[in-house]
Amino acid sequence: MIKIGVFGARRGGAVAEHCIASGKAKVVAVCDRDDDALNELKRKYGDAMTYYKDFDTFIGHGMDAVVLANSAHMHAPYAVRCLDAGLNVFSEVLPCQCMAEAVALVEAVERSGKKYVYGENYCYMPSTREMRKLYTSGALGEFEYGEGEYLHNCESVWADLTYGDREHWRNAVLYATFYCTHSLGPIVHITGLRPVKVTGYELPFTDKCARMGRRSGIAGIEMVEMENGGIVRSVHGDLNKGSVMYRVYGSKGRAESAQEEARTGGARRIYVNVDSEEGANDDNPSTYLPDDEYGADDGGHVGADRCIVNNFIAAVSGEQSDVIDVYEALDMFLPGLFAWFSVLDGGRPQTLPNLRDRAERDKWRNDFRCTDKSVARDRALPTYSKCVIDIPDEVYVGIKNKYIEKVQSVRRNNDENKN
Ligand SMILES: NC(=O)c1ccc[n+]([C@@H]2O[C@H](COP(=O)([O-])OP(=O)(O)OC[C@H]3O[C@@H](n4cnc5c(N)ncnc54)[C@H](O)[C@@H]3O)[C@@H](O)[C@H]2O)c1
Repeated sequence: MIKIGVFGARRGGAVAEHCIASGKAKVVAVCDRDDDALNELKRKYGDAMTYYKDFDTFIGHGMDAVVLANSAHMHAPYAVRCLDAGLNVFSEVLPCQCMAEAVALVEAVERSGKKYVYGENYCYMPSTREMRKLYTSGALGEFEYGEGEYLHNCESVWADLTYGDREHWRNAVLYATFYCTHSLGPIVHITGLRPVKVTGYELPFTDKCARMGRRSGIAGIEMVEMENGGIVRSVHGDLNKGSVMYRVYGSKGRAESAQEEARTGGARRIYVNVDSEEGANDDNPSTYLPDDEYGADDGGHVGADRCIVNNFIAAVSGEQSDVIDVYEALDMFLPGLFAWFSVLDGGRPQTLPNLRDRAERDKWRNDFRCTDKSVARDRALPTYSKCVIDIPDEVYVGIKNKYIEKVQSVRRNNDENKN
Protein backbone atom coordinates (compact mmCIF):
# COMPACT_ATOMS: atom_id res chain seq x y z
CA MET A 1 0.00 0.00 0.00
CA ILE A 2 1.33 3.45 -0.97
CA LYS A 3 1.02 5.88 1.95
CA ILE A 4 -0.28 9.25 0.81
CA GLY A 5 -0.59 12.64 2.49
CA VAL A 6 -2.98 15.27 1.18
CA PHE A 7 -2.15 18.99 1.45
CA GLY A 8 -5.30 21.13 1.02
CA ALA A 9 -8.57 19.51 2.09
CA ARG A 10 -11.09 21.01 -0.36
CA ARG A 11 -10.27 19.67 -3.84
CA GLY A 12 -7.83 17.45 -1.91
CA GLY A 13 -10.82 15.66 -0.34
CA ALA A 14 -11.95 14.44 -3.78
CA VAL A 15 -8.42 13.30 -4.71
CA ALA A 16 -8.15 11.48 -1.35
CA GLU A 17 -11.35 9.58 -2.15
CA HIS A 18 -9.85 8.32 -5.45
CA CYS A 19 -6.58 7.34 -3.73
CA ILE A 20 -8.55 5.21 -1.26
CA ALA A 21 -10.83 3.78 -3.98
CA SER A 22 -7.78 2.56 -5.93
CA GLY A 23 -7.31 -0.15 -3.30
CA LYS A 24 -3.53 0.31 -3.72
CA ALA A 25 -3.01 3.34 -1.51
CA LYS A 26 -4.11 4.67 1.83
CA VAL A 27 -4.37 8.30 2.88
CA VAL A 28 -2.50 8.53 6.16
CA ALA A 29 -2.45 12.31 6.72
CA VAL A 30 -4.27 15.47 5.67
CA CYS A 31 -3.21 19.06 6.20
CA ASP A 32 -5.31 22.22 6.01
CA ARG A 33 -5.12 25.36 8.12
CA ASP A 34 -8.82 25.95 7.65
CA ASP A 35 -11.03 24.32 10.32
CA ASP A 36 -14.12 23.97 8.08
CA ALA A 37 -12.16 22.14 5.39
CA LEU A 38 -10.31 19.87 7.86
CA ASN A 39 -13.40 19.05 9.94
CA GLU A 40 -15.26 17.95 6.83
CA LEU A 41 -12.67 15.19 6.30
CA LYS A 42 -12.49 14.39 10.04
CA ARG A 43 -16.24 13.74 10.01
CA LYS A 44 -15.86 11.47 6.99
CA TYR A 45 -12.71 9.50 7.87
CA GLY A 46 -12.38 9.78 11.68
CA ASP A 47 -9.31 7.97 13.04
CA ALA A 48 -8.32 6.51 9.67
CA MET A 49 -5.95 9.41 9.08
CA THR A 50 -4.00 12.04 11.05
CA TYR A 51 -5.00 15.68 10.70
CA TYR A 52 -2.55 18.60 10.61
CA LYS A 53 -2.95 22.35 10.33
CA ASP A 54 0.66 23.10 9.62
CA PHE A 55 2.74 21.87 6.65
CA ASP A 56 6.02 21.68 8.62
CA THR A 57 4.63 19.00 10.96
CA PHE A 58 2.55 17.30 8.22
CA ILE A 59 5.60 16.68 6.02
CA GLY A 60 7.24 14.74 8.87
CA HIS A 61 4.41 12.15 8.92
CA GLY A 62 5.76 8.90 7.48
CA MET A 63 4.46 8.67 3.90
CA ASP A 64 5.54 7.85 0.33
CA ALA A 65 3.78 10.59 -1.62
CA VAL A 66 2.01 13.90 -1.21
CA VAL A 67 -0.99 15.26 -3.13
CA LEU A 68 -0.67 19.04 -3.43
CA ALA A 69 -4.18 20.50 -3.54
CA ASN A 70 -3.43 23.82 -1.87
CA SER A 71 -3.93 27.18 -3.62
CA ALA A 72 -3.32 26.94 -7.39
CA HIS A 73 -0.42 29.43 -7.46
CA MET A 74 1.42 27.98 -4.44
CA HIS A 75 2.30 24.45 -5.55
CA ALA A 76 5.95 24.79 -6.59
CA PRO A 77 7.61 25.69 -3.27
CA TYR A 78 5.77 22.84 -1.52
CA ALA A 79 6.59 20.42 -4.35
CA VAL A 80 10.28 21.30 -3.95
CA ARG A 81 10.11 20.68 -0.20
CA CYS A 82 8.38 17.32 -0.67
CA LEU A 83 10.82 16.16 -3.38
CA ASP A 84 13.80 17.23 -1.26
CA ALA A 85 12.32 15.21 1.62
CA GLY A 86 12.27 12.12 -0.64
CA LEU A 87 8.52 12.15 -1.32
CA ASN A 88 6.76 11.57 -4.64
CA VAL A 89 4.44 14.39 -5.68
CA PHE A 90 1.04 14.61 -7.35
CA SER A 91 0.47 18.30 -8.08
CA GLU A 92 -2.94 19.73 -8.78
CA VAL A 93 -3.07 22.44 -11.43
CA LEU A 94 -1.01 24.68 -11.83
CA PRO A 95 2.63 23.55 -11.48
CA CYS A 96 4.06 26.98 -10.52
CA GLN A 97 3.44 30.69 -11.01
CA CYS A 98 6.68 32.20 -12.36
CA MET A 99 9.84 31.27 -14.22
CA ALA A 100 12.06 31.20 -11.10
CA GLU A 101 9.71 28.61 -9.57
CA ALA A 102 9.65 26.65 -12.85
CA VAL A 103 13.46 26.32 -12.82
CA ALA A 104 13.50 25.41 -9.12
CA LEU A 105 10.81 22.76 -9.68
CA VAL A 106 12.56 21.11 -12.64
CA GLU A 107 15.85 20.98 -10.75
CA ALA A 108 14.21 19.56 -7.61
CA VAL A 109 12.60 16.75 -9.65
CA GLU A 110 15.94 15.97 -11.32
CA ARG A 111 17.98 15.87 -8.10
CA SER A 112 15.35 13.87 -6.15
CA GLY A 113 14.85 11.04 -8.63
CA LYS A 114 11.25 10.91 -7.30
CA LYS A 115 8.05 10.90 -9.35
CA TYR A 116 6.50 14.27 -10.05
CA VAL A 117 3.08 13.85 -11.66
CA TYR A 118 1.01 16.78 -12.87
CA GLY A 119 -2.71 16.36 -12.22
CA GLU A 120 -4.10 17.72 -15.50
CA ASN A 121 -7.15 15.48 -15.42
CA TYR A 122 -8.71 16.85 -18.65
CA CYS A 123 -6.12 14.77 -20.55
CA TYR A 124 -7.79 11.63 -19.17
CA MET A 125 -11.41 12.09 -20.25
CA PRO A 126 -12.70 9.30 -22.52
CA SER A 127 -12.54 11.51 -25.64
CA THR A 128 -9.10 13.02 -24.95
CA ARG A 129 -7.59 9.62 -24.13
CA GLU A 130 -9.07 8.22 -27.33
CA MET A 131 -7.66 11.15 -29.35
CA ARG A 132 -4.21 10.43 -27.89
CA LYS A 133 -4.55 6.78 -28.92
CA LEU A 134 -5.60 7.80 -32.43
CA TYR A 135 -2.82 10.38 -32.75
CA THR A 136 -0.03 8.15 -31.48
CA SER A 137 -1.23 5.29 -33.73
CA GLY A 138 -0.74 7.61 -36.72
CA ALA A 139 -4.44 7.52 -37.69
CA LEU A 140 -4.69 11.34 -37.69
CA GLY A 141 -1.40 11.98 -39.47
CA GLU A 142 0.78 14.97 -38.61
CA PHE A 143 -0.72 17.67 -36.38
CA GLU A 144 -1.84 20.84 -38.18
CA TYR A 145 -4.44 22.64 -36.03
CA GLY A 146 -6.13 22.09 -32.67
CA GLU A 147 -8.65 23.67 -30.32
CA GLY A 148 -9.18 23.31 -26.60
CA GLU A 149 -12.04 24.92 -24.67
CA TYR A 150 -12.59 24.97 -20.94
CA LEU A 151 -15.44 27.38 -20.30
CA HIS A 152 -17.08 27.11 -16.92
CA ASN A 153 -19.43 29.80 -15.63
CA CYS A 154 -18.62 29.53 -11.92
CA GLU A 155 -20.75 32.45 -10.71
CA SER A 156 -23.32 30.20 -9.01
CA VAL A 157 -20.60 28.35 -7.03
CA TRP A 158 -18.21 31.28 -6.44
CA ALA A 159 -19.17 31.43 -2.74
CA ASP A 160 -18.19 27.73 -2.34
CA LEU A 161 -14.95 28.30 -4.24
CA THR A 162 -13.74 31.54 -2.64
CA TYR A 163 -15.77 31.80 0.60
CA GLY A 164 -15.86 35.60 0.28
CA ASP A 165 -12.10 35.91 0.73
CA ARG A 166 -10.87 39.02 -1.10
CA GLU A 167 -7.36 37.53 -1.23
CA HIS A 168 -8.42 34.08 -2.50
CA TRP A 169 -6.27 33.17 -5.54
CA ARG A 170 -9.35 33.05 -7.79
CA ASN A 171 -9.97 36.75 -6.94
CA ALA A 172 -6.52 38.19 -6.33
CA VAL A 173 -3.99 36.20 -8.38
CA LEU A 174 -5.86 34.79 -11.38
CA TYR A 175 -5.45 36.74 -14.64
CA ALA A 176 -7.26 35.99 -17.92
CA THR A 177 -4.68 33.49 -19.27
CA PHE A 178 -3.66 31.97 -15.87
CA TYR A 179 -5.77 28.79 -15.69
CA CYS A 180 -4.80 27.53 -19.15
CA THR A 181 -3.92 23.89 -18.67
CA HIS A 182 -7.46 22.42 -18.79
CA SER A 183 -7.88 23.80 -22.33
CA LEU A 184 -4.34 23.57 -23.74
CA GLY A 185 -3.06 20.55 -21.77
CA PRO A 186 -5.01 17.84 -23.63
CA ILE A 187 -3.77 19.07 -27.04
CA VAL A 188 -0.16 18.98 -25.75
CA HIS A 189 -0.66 15.47 -24.31
CA ILE A 190 -2.49 14.12 -27.38
CA THR A 191 0.14 15.32 -29.88
CA GLY A 192 3.27 15.14 -27.70
CA LEU A 193 4.39 18.40 -29.32
CA ARG A 194 6.11 21.24 -27.47
CA PRO A 195 4.59 24.74 -27.61
CA VAL A 196 7.24 27.19 -28.86
CA LYS A 197 5.49 30.55 -29.26
CA VAL A 198 2.34 32.20 -27.87
CA THR A 199 0.19 35.27 -28.37
CA GLY A 200 -2.27 36.12 -25.59
CA TYR A 201 -5.68 37.76 -25.55
CA GLU A 202 -7.68 39.03 -22.58
CA LEU A 203 -11.47 39.22 -22.64
CA PRO A 204 -13.04 42.15 -20.77
CA PHE A 205 -13.75 42.58 -17.06
CA THR A 206 -17.56 42.37 -17.02
CA ASP A 207 -20.45 43.03 -14.62
CA LYS A 208 -20.30 39.33 -13.72
CA CYS A 209 -16.62 39.64 -12.71
CA ALA A 210 -17.60 42.60 -10.50
CA ARG A 211 -20.42 40.58 -8.87
CA MET A 212 -18.03 37.67 -8.26
CA GLY A 213 -15.23 39.86 -6.93
CA ARG A 214 -12.82 38.37 -9.47
CA ARG A 215 -10.38 41.10 -10.46
CA SER A 216 -9.54 39.92 -13.99
CA GLY A 217 -10.96 39.57 -17.48
CA ILE A 218 -13.79 37.05 -17.83
CA ALA A 219 -11.73 34.68 -20.04
CA GLY A 220 -8.40 34.33 -21.83
CA ILE A 221 -7.18 32.98 -25.15
CA GLU A 222 -3.77 31.63 -26.10
CA MET A 223 -2.85 31.19 -29.76
CA VAL A 224 0.01 28.73 -29.54
CA GLU A 225 2.52 27.66 -32.17
CA MET A 226 3.76 24.09 -31.68
CA GLU A 227 7.26 22.86 -32.51
CA ASN A 228 6.11 21.47 -35.89
CA GLY A 229 4.46 24.78 -36.91
CA GLY A 230 0.90 23.61 -36.11
CA ILE A 231 -1.34 26.09 -34.27
CA VAL A 232 -3.61 25.65 -31.22
CA ARG A 233 -6.39 27.93 -30.03
CA SER A 234 -6.89 27.55 -26.28
CA VAL A 235 -9.79 29.40 -24.58
CA HIS A 236 -10.77 29.23 -20.92
CA GLY A 237 -12.71 31.21 -18.36
CA ASP A 238 -16.17 32.01 -17.07
CA LEU A 239 -18.09 32.79 -20.26
CA ASN A 240 -21.79 32.44 -19.74
CA LYS A 241 -22.34 28.96 -21.20
CA GLY A 242 -20.08 26.02 -20.42
CA SER A 243 -18.01 24.15 -22.96
CA VAL A 244 -15.40 21.45 -22.57
CA MET A 245 -14.29 20.57 -26.08
CA TYR A 246 -11.16 19.42 -27.90
CA ARG A 247 -10.48 19.20 -31.63
CA VAL A 248 -7.41 17.97 -33.47
CA TYR A 249 -6.83 18.27 -37.23
CA GLY A 250 -4.01 16.19 -38.69
CA SER A 251 -2.80 15.57 -42.24
CA LYS A 252 -5.10 12.50 -42.45
CA GLY A 253 -8.22 13.91 -40.81
CA ARG A 254 -9.91 15.15 -37.68
CA ALA A 255 -11.01 13.94 -34.24
CA GLU A 256 -13.11 16.00 -31.83
CA SER A 257 -15.10 15.58 -28.66
CA ALA A 258 -18.83 16.33 -28.52
CA GLN A 259 -20.00 19.84 -27.65
CA GLU A 260 -21.85 19.78 -24.33
CA GLU A 261 -24.71 21.73 -25.95
CA ALA A 262 -25.29 18.85 -28.36
CA ARG A 263 -26.32 16.72 -25.33
CA THR A 264 -24.68 13.70 -26.95
CA GLY A 265 -22.27 12.75 -24.20
CA GLY A 266 -19.89 15.73 -23.99
CA ALA A 267 -16.29 14.76 -23.32
CA ARG A 268 -17.33 11.07 -23.26
CA ARG A 269 -18.14 11.04 -26.99
CA ILE A 270 -15.76 11.38 -29.90
CA TYR A 271 -16.32 12.20 -33.58
CA VAL A 272 -13.70 10.98 -36.03
CA ASN A 273 -13.24 11.45 -39.76
CA VAL A 274 -9.91 10.18 -41.07
CA ASP A 275 -8.52 9.09 -44.43
CA SER A 276 -7.14 5.61 -44.98
CA GLU A 277 -3.91 7.27 -46.10
CA GLU A 278 -2.67 10.81 -46.60
CA GLY A 279 -4.17 12.34 -49.75
CA ALA A 280 -6.91 9.69 -50.09
CA ASN A 281 -9.71 12.18 -49.40
CA ASP A 282 -12.08 9.53 -48.05
CA ASP A 283 -15.14 10.70 -46.20
CA ASN A 284 -15.53 8.35 -43.24
CA PRO A 285 -17.31 10.16 -40.40
CA SER A 286 -17.98 8.07 -37.34
CA THR A 287 -18.95 8.72 -33.75
CA TYR A 288 -18.70 6.51 -30.69
CA LEU A 289 -18.34 6.39 -26.94
CA PRO A 290 -14.81 5.02 -26.47
CA ASP A 291 -14.80 1.71 -24.70
CA ASP A 292 -13.56 2.85 -21.37
CA GLU A 293 -13.17 1.45 -17.87
CA TYR A 294 -13.70 4.89 -16.24
CA GLY A 295 -16.04 6.93 -18.44
CA ALA A 296 -19.26 5.07 -17.69
CA ASP A 297 -18.87 5.27 -13.94
CA ASP A 298 -18.17 8.94 -13.34
CA GLY A 299 -15.88 9.53 -10.40
CA GLY A 300 -15.59 13.26 -11.28
CA HIS A 301 -14.84 14.86 -14.65
CA VAL A 302 -16.29 11.89 -16.60
CA GLY A 303 -13.93 9.41 -14.99
CA ALA A 304 -10.76 11.46 -15.54
CA ASP A 305 -10.13 12.03 -11.83
CA ARG A 306 -10.07 8.31 -11.02
CA CYS A 307 -7.96 7.53 -14.06
CA ILE A 308 -5.25 10.09 -13.30
CA VAL A 309 -5.00 9.10 -9.63
CA ASN A 310 -4.73 5.40 -10.56
CA ASN A 311 -2.01 6.25 -13.09
CA PHE A 312 -0.12 8.23 -10.43
CA ILE A 313 -0.28 5.34 -7.95
CA ALA A 314 0.90 2.93 -10.66
CA ALA A 315 3.84 5.24 -11.48
CA VAL A 316 4.85 5.49 -7.81
CA SER A 317 4.62 1.68 -7.59
CA GLY A 318 7.17 1.45 -10.41
CA GLU A 319 4.69 0.39 -13.10
CA GLN A 320 4.54 1.83 -16.63
CA SER A 321 1.71 4.34 -16.76
CA ASP A 322 0.53 7.33 -18.73
CA VAL A 323 1.43 10.35 -16.57
CA ILE A 324 2.43 13.97 -17.15
CA ASP A 325 5.98 14.76 -16.01
CA VAL A 326 7.40 18.11 -14.94
CA TYR A 327 8.59 19.11 -18.44
CA GLU A 328 5.20 18.42 -20.00
CA ALA A 329 3.47 20.20 -17.09
CA LEU A 330 5.47 23.31 -17.99
CA ASP A 331 4.63 22.86 -21.69
CA MET A 332 1.00 23.14 -20.56
CA PHE A 333 1.44 26.06 -18.13
CA LEU A 334 4.10 28.36 -19.63
CA PRO A 335 1.89 29.36 -22.61
CA GLY A 336 -0.56 30.91 -20.10
CA LEU A 337 2.16 32.86 -18.26
CA PHE A 338 3.79 34.04 -21.50
CA ALA A 339 0.37 34.83 -23.00
CA TRP A 340 0.00 37.24 -20.09
CA PHE A 341 3.41 38.77 -20.87
CA SER A 342 2.10 39.07 -24.46
CA VAL A 343 -1.10 40.84 -23.37
CA LEU A 344 0.93 43.24 -21.21
CA ASP A 345 3.28 43.80 -24.16
CA GLY A 346 0.48 44.96 -26.49
CA GLY A 347 -0.16 41.51 -28.00
CA ARG A 348 3.41 40.80 -29.15
CA PRO A 349 4.12 37.05 -29.65
CA GLN A 350 6.43 35.54 -27.00
CA THR A 351 8.95 32.73 -27.45
CA LEU A 352 8.47 29.94 -24.90
CA PRO A 353 11.48 28.66 -22.92
CA ASN A 354 12.41 24.98 -22.93
CA LEU A 355 13.67 24.09 -19.46
CA ARG A 356 14.70 20.60 -20.60
CA ASP A 357 17.72 22.52 -21.88
CA ARG A 358 19.95 23.20 -18.86
CA ALA A 359 21.67 26.06 -20.68
CA GLU A 360 18.37 27.99 -20.83
CA ARG A 361 17.72 27.87 -17.12
CA ASP A 362 20.11 30.59 -15.91
CA LYS A 363 18.28 33.19 -17.95
CA TRP A 364 15.11 32.52 -15.94
CA ARG A 365 16.10 31.43 -12.44
CA ASN A 366 15.70 34.92 -10.96
CA ASP A 367 12.59 35.90 -12.91
CA PHE A 368 9.80 36.19 -10.33
CA ARG A 369 7.30 38.08 -12.51
CA CYS A 370 3.76 36.99 -11.59
CA THR A 371 0.60 38.44 -10.03
CA ASP A 372 1.41 37.24 -6.49
CA LYS A 373 2.92 40.29 -4.78
CA SER A 374 4.52 38.23 -2.01
CA VAL A 375 6.64 36.42 -4.63
CA ALA A 376 7.13 39.04 -7.36
CA ARG A 377 7.58 42.04 -5.02
CA ASP A 378 8.52 45.08 -7.15
CA ARG A 379 7.99 43.06 -10.36
CA ALA A 380 4.35 42.17 -9.56
CA LEU A 381 2.06 42.09 -12.59
CA PRO A 382 -1.54 43.34 -12.62
CA THR A 383 -4.43 40.86 -12.89
CA TYR A 384 -6.16 43.04 -15.50
CA SER A 385 -4.38 44.89 -18.27
CA LYS A 386 -6.76 47.76 -19.03
CA CYS A 387 -7.26 49.47 -15.66
CA VAL A 388 -6.98 49.04 -11.91
CA ILE A 389 -10.02 47.17 -10.60
CA ASP A 390 -11.41 48.28 -7.27
CA ILE A 391 -14.13 46.07 -5.80
CA PRO A 392 -15.92 47.31 -2.65
CA ASP A 393 -15.71 45.20 0.53
CA GLU A 394 -19.53 44.74 0.51
CA VAL A 395 -19.19 42.34 -2.44
CA TYR A 396 -16.92 40.00 -0.47
CA VAL A 397 -19.03 40.36 2.70
CA GLY A 398 -22.15 39.33 0.71
CA ILE A 399 -20.36 36.29 -0.75
CA LYS A 400 -18.97 35.32 2.68
CA ASN A 401 -22.49 35.47 4.21
CA LYS A 402 -23.80 33.26 1.42
CA TYR A 403 -20.99 30.76 2.12
CA ILE A 404 -21.59 30.77 5.90
CA GLU A 405 -25.33 30.21 5.39
CA LYS A 406 -24.60 27.24 3.14
CA VAL A 407 -22.10 25.66 5.55
CA GLN A 408 -24.57 26.06 8.45
CA SER A 409 -27.38 24.54 6.43
CA VAL A 410 -25.21 21.52 5.48
CA ARG A 411 -24.31 21.07 9.18
CA ARG A 412 -27.98 21.24 10.23
CA ASN A 413 -28.88 18.61 7.62
CA ASN A 414 -26.02 16.37 8.76
CA ASP A 415 -27.12 16.69 12.40
CA GLU A 416 -30.75 15.94 11.49
CA ASN A 417 -29.69 12.86 9.53
CA LYS A 418 -27.67 11.62 12.55
CA ASN A 419 -30.63 12.02 14.97
N1 LIG B 1 -8.20 19.35 -11.68
C1 LIG B 1 -9.39 19.83 -11.40
O1 LIG B 1 -10.39 19.53 -12.04
C2 LIG B 1 -9.50 20.77 -10.24
C3 LIG B 1 -10.75 21.12 -9.70
C4 LIG B 1 -10.78 21.99 -8.60
C5 LIG B 1 -9.60 22.49 -8.07
N2 LIG B 1 -8.41 22.11 -8.63
C6 LIG B 1 -7.13 22.57 -8.09
O2 LIG B 1 -7.00 22.09 -6.76
C7 LIG B 1 -6.32 23.03 -5.95
C8 LIG B 1 -7.20 23.41 -4.78
O3 LIG B 1 -8.38 23.97 -5.26
P1 LIG B 1 -9.50 24.46 -4.25
O4 LIG B 1 -10.64 24.94 -5.06
O5 LIG B 1 -9.70 23.42 -3.21
O6 LIG B 1 -8.68 25.73 -3.70
P2 LIG B 1 -8.73 26.53 -2.36
O7 LIG B 1 -7.65 27.53 -2.49
O8 LIG B 1 -10.10 27.01 -2.08
O9 LIG B 1 -8.37 25.45 -1.24
C9 LIG B 1 -7.05 25.21 -0.88
C10 LIG B 1 -7.04 24.70 0.55
O10 LIG B 1 -5.67 24.60 0.92
C11 LIG B 1 -5.50 25.15 2.21
N3 LIG B 1 -4.15 25.73 2.29
C12 LIG B 1 -3.56 26.57 1.41
N4 LIG B 1 -2.32 26.91 1.83
C13 LIG B 1 -2.14 26.26 3.02
C14 LIG B 1 -1.07 26.23 3.96
N5 LIG B 1 0.06 26.91 3.75
N6 LIG B 1 -1.21 25.46 5.07
C15 LIG B 1 -2.36 24.76 5.28
N7 LIG B 1 -3.42 24.77 4.44
C16 LIG B 1 -3.30 25.51 3.32
C17 LIG B 1 -6.55 26.24 2.32
O11 LIG B 1 -6.90 26.49 3.68
C18 LIG B 1 -7.71 25.67 1.52
O12 LIG B 1 -8.65 24.98 2.33
C19 LIG B 1 -6.01 24.21 -6.87
O13 LIG B 1 -4.72 24.05 -7.33
C20 LIG B 1 -6.99 24.07 -8.02
O14 LIG B 1 -6.47 24.59 -9.19
C21 LIG B 1 -8.35 21.26 -9.68
